[in-house]
This record gives sequence, structure tokens and C-alpha cells, in this order.
Amino acid sequence: MHTQVGIIGGGPAGLLLGHLLHLKGIDSVILERRDHEYVIDRVRAGVLEQFTADLMTQTGVGARLHQIGMRHDSVYLSFGGRRHLVPLSELSGGKAIYVYGQNEVVKDLMDARIATGRPLHYEVSDVSVYDIDTTRPLIRYHAGGAQHELTCDFIAGCDGFHGICRPALGDAVTFYDKTYPFGWLGILAEAAPSSEALVYTCHERGFALFSMRSPKITRLYFQVPPDEDINKWPDDAIWDEMLKRMTTKDGWKPNVGPVLNKNVTAMRSFVTEPMCAGRLYLAGDAAHIVPPTGAKGLNLAAADVLLLARAFTEFYKYSNSGLLNNYSETALQRVWRAQRFSWWMTQTLHLSPEGNAFDFKRQLTDLDYITSSKAAMTSLAENYVGLPMDIEF
Ligand code: FAD
Ligand code: PHB
Repeated sequence: MHTQVGIIGGGPAGLLLGHLLHLKGIDSVILERRDHEYVIDRVRAGVLEQFTADLMTQTGVGARLHQIGMRHDSVYLSFGGRRHLVPLSELSGGKAIYVYGQNEVVKDLMDARIATGRPLHYEVSDVSVYDIDTTRPLIRYHAGGAQHELTCDFIAGCDGFHGICRPALGDAVTFYDKTYPFGWLGILAEAAPSSEALVYTCHERGFALFSMRSPKITRLYFQVPPDEDINKWPDDAIWDEMLKRMTTKDGWKPNVGPVLNKNVTAMRSFVTEPMCAGRLYLAGDAAHIVPPTGAKGLNLAAADVLLLARAFTEFYKYSNSGLLNNYSETALQRVWRAQRFSWWMTQTLHLSPEGNAFDFKRQLTDLDYITSSKAAMTSLAENYVGLPMDIEF
């Protein structure tokens, strides 16, 4: 078997790349380790930048996003018992964020892929890559009880942080890594959202975040140690802690309801440089991880695959490798800006076990400055809604 672009990983990055390539008439095969339901059911991102929403709309996969996704023109920063509104759209020339679960993004992209009839294989195992320094890189994998070989013009490594593609880049790459002394305990609750905007809270007991998935479902997080055992947290204890951190002096608090799902995620910042070797190109979490505080991970994955799709198009249309050669450098510029912003949001809003009372006062002063200076709030808004990105390709 041969294909133009062999895509390893059928998460948001792999599916979106396959979709964009299809629109340019470029063949691909998508190989996914898990089953179809697992990929859809995984509860992860919730916030799309304006650019990601625009890209979905312009490439024909935005119908449900506009039906059931929620456009948010503002966000709250909460500290000292008060919520402070950050008017994102007003400060960013009309851009907004869209609350639309990653599950829904993945569903839209899977449906689009299935409609094209192009190959998307689930439950493949033992995926390995060879000959990336030649013009015929090779993917070997097991599926349906048989071993398969797929030769490709290029391989796109969209297999997330724990995939096999990043290790296959070889020795000529540098990793930049930072782990944080905390993680997030997240729940989905059957409760109507009690606020029209997300609320990021910096509290003396630690960070907390109010988000949502639909008019009936609230999504909440709070900071815990990175290795926290979820079994230590019965639902009542979770609600007790959520309410302690989130309730503001004016009486605002999240509505309480049955917990549908709960888990703990550790947090890290991680970058691979360069994001490619030979004909193997990484995109999304395979190349970089951001702590979720800035809501950037899925959006960076979308930006990477847009650049990659543009570069492959240039290659096939004009036999020009210029954009492919520049892919890593171009992508990394946005990646580092998102890293900086995500790190900044994280350290401003979380309580570090290594910090002291001085650090907490400094954080509160930072938040006070941001919410009282239009210049500072504008900087937050332009990063949060997403830095400019040209969506033509
Ligand atoms: P993944 O989603 O990890 O997909 C990779 C796929 O590759 C997986 O399906 C995996 O099964 C498959 N795979 C792995 N190994 C192999 C293999 N060997 N062979 C074949 N397939 C393989 N981002 C935002 O932008 N906004 C947010 O609001 C946000 N909130 C978040 C909240 C939480 C709690 C978490 C954990 C993350 C959040 N993110 C957010 C980040 C976002 O979820 C990720 O950045 C996004 O999933 C990256 O997509 P991806 O396709 O690169 O990787
Ligand atoms: C979410 O809704 O899951 C969410 C929202 C904002 C974030 C991270 C996650 O920063």
C-alpha cells in the first residue's frame, strides 16, 4: 500500500490534517491506536480560539459548532472574593472564544472523513516508522490480525504526547520541559451553568475554573497535587472544595448536580525543536504540551496542521518544498507564544507549594493590575482569543 501522507493518530490533529488534505485532493491514511468510541468519549478541551472556529467553518465542518457551540465574548478573573469581567471581544477587535467540547470537534471531523471514503483505521497496534531520511518513508502496523506496510511520501506524527513519532525523530532534536507541582481535578456535572462566562479563580486554597459544555452541563476544575488519587475524592468532598474556592462575596457559585465524570490531569510545558526530521513531521501534542490554563493545546494542534496542509499543498502543486522546510520554524513561533501565555496564566492563578505569602500577594497584585489597566487586559484578551493566524491555504 502507498499513500501521499501517512497520518499516525486520529485525534483532533490527525483528523483535521486528513480533512484539509482531502480538500486539496491529497491522499492520506489515518491510523489510530484506540477504538472510535474511546476517541470520542475522552473528555478534554472545551475552548476554541476564534481562528479554530473560523477554520472549521470555512472548511465545511462548522455546522454543529454554530448550532450547539457557545460563543463567549468575555471571561471572568475571580480573586479576593470578586469576579472581574474581561471583555475579550471589545478588547480584541471583535474576536471571541467558542465553548465546544473536543468530543464534538472529533465527531465532526470523523463524520467528514467517513463521508470522503478515505481510509481511517481504528485499533491498529505496534505502529512503527522507518526510512524517514528517504523519499519513501514506511509505516508498519498490525490491524485485523495481520501485519501491514504502508509506504508514504511523508509521515505526519499526530499521535499525541505518548506516541511513537517523537522518539523516532532521532538525536538531532532538543526537548524543553517544565513540570508543575500541581494538576487539575476535573468534573463534568449535570447542572445548568450558573454564569454566562468562564470563571478563572485564584483562591488561597488554590486555583479553580468554572466552564461548561451545554445549557445543562457544567465543567469544573480545581488544582490538586499532580499525583492526586481521584479515589480520595468522593463527590461531596469535590463539591465542598469547589464551592469553597469559587463562591464570591456577591453569592455567586456554581450550581451543584450529579457528577458524570471525574479525573486528574498532571500539567507540564514541553516543546520539541525542531518539530521534524527527514520526512517525518510532528503536529499537536506529539510535538508540544501546554498546561491547560490558557486553553491552547487543541488550538495549537489546529495551527500546526494548517501550516502542514499548506506546505504539502505547495509541494504537490508546485513541487516546492519551501514551506515544508520552514514548517518547524514557523510553527514554533506560535508554539512559544502559546507556551509563554499558558505558563503565565498558570503561575498567576495557581498556588505553588514552593511559593510563600509574598508570592500569593504578588499574584493578587498581578491580577489586580490586569483587571484595572486597559493595556494589561488587552494583552490578556489578545492572547486568550488567539494571536492572528491566516486561515487561507
Ligand atoms: P491527542 O488528542 O492526544 O490525539 C492523539 C491520538 O493519537 C490519540 O487518539 C491516540 O490514541 C493516538 N495515538 C497515540 N499513539 C498512537 C500510535 N502509536 N499509533 C496510532 N495512534 C496513536 N486545548 C485547548 O485548545 N483548549 C482547551 O480548553 C483545552 N482544555 C484541556 C483540558 C484538559 C483537562 C486537557 C487534558 C487538555 C486540554 N486541552 C485544551 C488540550 C487538548 O486536549 C490537546 O492539546 C489535544 O487533544 C491535542 O490533540 P492531538 O490530536 O495533538 O493529540
Ligand atoms: C474546559 O472547558 O474544559 C476548559 C476551559 C478553559 C480552560 C481549560 C479547559 O483553560
